[in-house]
Amino acid sequence: MAKPAVTYACTDCGYSAGRWFGKCPGCNAFGTLVEEVVGATKGKAAQPLLRLVDVKADEAQRISTGVPELDRVLGGGLVPASLVLVGGEPGVGKSTLLLTALAAISKERRALLVTGEESVAQVKLRAERLGGAEQVEILAETELETVCATLEAERPDVCVIDSVQTLYSAEVGSAPGSVAQVREAAARLLRAAKELGVATILVGHVTKDGAVAGPRVLEHLVDCVLQFEGDRYHAHRVLRAAKNRFGSTNELGVFEMTGSGLAGVPDPSELFGRAAGSEVGSAVACALEGTRPILLEIQALVAPTDLAMPRRVATGVDPKRLAMIVAVLGRHARVALGTADVFVNVAGGVRIDEPGADLAVALAIASAARGVPTHEGLAAFGEIGLTGRLRPAAQAERRLEECAKLGLETVVAPADTPPSRPTLTLLQAETLPKAIAAGLAAATG
Ligand SMILES: Nc1ncnc2c1ncn2[C@@H]1O[C@H](COP(=O)(O)OP(=O)(O)OP(=O)(O)O)[C@@H](O)[C@H]1O
Ligand SMILES: [Mg+2]
Repeated sequence: MAKPAVTYACTDCGYSAGRWFGKCPGCNAFGTLVEEVVGATKGKAAQPLLRLVDVKADEAQRISTGVPELDRVLGGGLVPASLVLVGGEPGVGKSTLLLTALAAISKERRALLVTGEESVAQVKLRAERLGGAEQVEILAETELETVCATLEAERPDVCVIDSVQTLYSAEVGSAPGSVAQVREAAARLLRAAKELGVATILVGHVTKDGAVAGPRVLEHLVDCVLQFEGDRYHAHRVLRAAKNRFGSTNELGVFEMTGSGLAGVPDPSELFGRAAGSEVGSAVACALEGTRPILLEIQALVAPTDLAMPRRVATGVDPKRLAMIVAVLGRHARVALGTADVFVNVAGGVRIDEPGADLAVALAIASAARGVPTHEGLAAFGEIGLTGRLRPAAQAERRLEECAKLGLETVVAPADTPPSRPTLTLLQAETLPKAIAAGLAAATG
């Protein structure tokens, strides 16, 4: 038999080389290269091939998690034998969300919670607070081999591992929580999930700087990556998919943290978009999150500054996008902001990445800069181009429908948006200055 080749791989960045280095040439970390034995292919029997036409796949019988918001983000429920990673900062409510889901699943199927983080008694306390989790099976274990052996023996339908960072395999040399350990745990659980048909959900911690063995290294391994966001000081939490092999990545689930657990918010527009309307510096955006339009209140503050580099602070909006909007406002709409700090905030701690929200951000800033409010009951959508022209936004029809549903009266939108709702006044604008003229109440003095 051929001698197996030896390579050295970095446990942090995955750099691999034919010889050992003290300092990884890939990420400059010290002492992270470990020996890896690559097995030779000689002596292995070839596998017969299949044609896709012969493959039997029962069109995924999805498992409902009993949490409609979670189901939607997953793309319609959990796919059996899939591996899902749920990431989020400490205390955001990952354990609460997943225990709620397990409780509902346990009514009809076997649901297992592997807890490495909390004791069985602590989980029991939470379960009592949430209610309905009596049938959930629980295993307090951190040793990877034991967890895999238990999965093989018990074969639950759904298994939650809370958290993947606590799992430890003695076969891997490094400390629990290190990248090597986390990767090993995920790879073994992936195999277990696929072979045993256990839908597995991994909980992973994310730190602000992402430097600690974060779940980022797992993103390519798992089928689905969900991010649970929201800060501790707001009751609202947002769940979104960063990757999904079985559904859209644009879906959004909104929750409210209450004493008895996480309550889904089926109609987030009610909550975030019930905008003051006639307040200076505020505008309502009709943004699209996946298949769902959502109304969001955007607030802006423009304050004079002596700083040579005025501040542009964005919460919930991409800072680059904000810089672009500020520049277009100055250049094409005569809203000069060169000597002012600009702060923009999306109400409720929500984050928007959609260009269709540009126009509302611009309106909020223009309103703050000129000291005049937008018209009462007005929402806006549309992407702003660098020339100051408004570009049509996707799915205008659905956005208008949402605005009409929530009782708004006027919508400012790009020029070729088809008017469709009798109750809505549609103000079409070709350019940003025209949209500002249409959206802002006339300045008095
Ligand atoms: N009795 C309670 N009443 C209301 N809210 C509570 C109560 N107990 C916990 N919470 C909420 O639950 C949150 C913690 O939830 P959970 O333990 O599920 O978070 P987690 O993301 O799993 O945290 P960790 O990363 O530490 O495991 C707290 O931030 C708090 O808002
Ligand atoms: Mg937890």
